[in-house]
Amino acid sequence: MPLLDALRRPLRDLRISVTDRCNFRCVYCMPKEVFGPDYQFLQRAEILTYEEITRLATIFVGLGVEKIRLTGGEPLVRRDLHELIARLSRLDGLKDLTLTTNGSLLTAQARGLKEAGLKRITVSLDSIDDDVFRSMNDVGVPVATILAGIEAAAEAGLSPVKINAVVKRGTNDHTIVDLARHFKGSGHIVRYIEFMDVGATNGWRLDHVVPAREIIERINAELPLEAIKPNYRGEVARRWRYKDGTGEIGVIASITQPFCGDCSRIRVSPEGELYTCLFGTRGFDVRSLLRGGLRDAEVAERISAVWRVREDRYSEVRTEDTIGLRKVEMSHIGG
Ligand code: GTP
Ligand code: 5AD
Ligand code: SF4
Ligand code: SF4
Repeated sequence: MPLLDALRRPLRDLRISVTDRCNFRCVYCMPKEVFGPDYQFLQRAEILTYEEITRLATIFVGLGVEKIRLTGGEPLVRRDLHELIARLSRLDGLKDLTLTTNGSLLTAQARGLKEAGLKRITVSLDSIDDDVFRSMNDVGVPVATILAGIEAAAEAGLSPVKINAVVKRGTNDHTIVDLARHFKGSGHIVRYIEFMDVGATNGWRLDHVVPAREIIERINAELPLEAIKPNYRGEVARRWRYKDGTGEIGVIASITQPFCGDCSRIRVSPEGELYTCLFGTRGFDVRSLLRGGLRDAEVAERISAVWRVREDRYSEVRTEDTIGLRKVEMSHIGG
């Protein structure tokens, strides 16, 4: 019997944030005013070691997890990440192992990641316009660096590469169609993400959100699209393909078309807190279990107990009051 939560949703996906650090300061995620030179990131002793992550992942696979995604912060800033990937890729029963990155360090690392056993990769790129992109990442990294990373990933066999673009009205929404056009026919899949009210520091407002329907309409007006079926139940992105057969795109509409009904995701923060929702305000401390001498079966039982009572469906019950909660930061829990 699969492990089910209180709304009868199975536990299938584990998202592991390996660091709270990032070399970007995206305006919608780590605004410089908050994440400045004095910001206190986690110390080394606080974050889970690769041994601890591997142990935890093994326990999760035993509970029904089939897919693991590594996130951050920026996962590729953590030293020797390929060593963790090599360990995770050997887990029996794991069907998918992937990673979400900002792509800035990918050219150097793509081959090593693939050789370690990574199956695929998702790269964030919010605009194909260099000025817009530089001002969004706020550290001046040019589009060309990310494009080189994407090509290195594809050459290494981490394909199809998925490309995530967060759309923020008034910031990059005028470049949506150009991004689609750039990757049309490349085999890479662009996914547009509605700007979400994650965390508590990104100044989210509803009028910053460009609804997925509008995103699709704008692209469809120039590059005709048709809807296609999901790849699997609970897929976060809704898929569309170009009518001329040159590829597909996706939209992730957490604000206007929430998808909590099929949510099978659990998240682990770098210091070993479990979150049963991206919009969680409090985690469950699993690190002290791992470091406290509990056997795997005991840790598994504690995690099962957390999942069994899970009732989260934040995106479906979002209100003015929930928006202001002190939620965990995206850069901490990894999206
Ligand atoms: P595939 O495995 O390729 O299907 O991708 P994925 O959808 O798991 O990929 P990814 O991690 O790139 O997710 C894309 C984005 O969707 C994330 O960065 C988040 O912004 C958003 N997202 C993913 N999972 C959730 C979720 O459970 N809730 C909400 N609200 N947003 C999510
Ligand atoms: N809303 C939507 N997506 C976000 N991301 C980061 N912050 C937000 C937000 N507030 C995206 C990143 C990356 C993924 C991990 O989540 O750009 O693609
Ligand atoms: Fe870093 Fe990703 Fe957040 Fe940008 S969105 S600051 S790349 S963690
Ligand atoms: Fe899952 Fe929470 Fe996202 Fe809903 S809002 S899909 S419950 S993570």
